[in-house]
Amino acid sequence: PTITYVQPGGAADAVTAEDGTTLMRAAVTNGVDGIVGECGGQAMCATCHVYVRPEFAARLPEIGDEEEEMLECTTAERTENSRLGCQISVDAGLDGIVVDVPADQV
Ligand code: FES
Repeated sequence: PTITYVQPGGAADAVTAEDGTTLMRAAVTNGVDGIVGECGGQAMCATCHVYVRPEFAARLPEIGDEEEEMLECTTAERTENSRLGCQISVDAGLDGIVVDVPADQV
């Protein structure tokens, strides 16, 4: 599946992700700026915060309890589009999804 990460300045990275990876890991593997994945995908760091464009929201799994807690700890402001990239598995159903990378994510 192709995932597009849009930087705060508008530059877009379209990456081809493997099935079974996550939005966080696909970004890190492909060197996308602003997605760090410091905790390795344990829902414990919030450095994989992304804003999923609303038109794709219906394709995502529900927010789990750990994700919900960690979304309260994001560096950039949480919005209704906020998700943790490490909690979203990639499969064919996500092909073409577009997510925005928060500004000031370290
Ligand atoms: Fe740490 Fe997602 S990688 S919360």
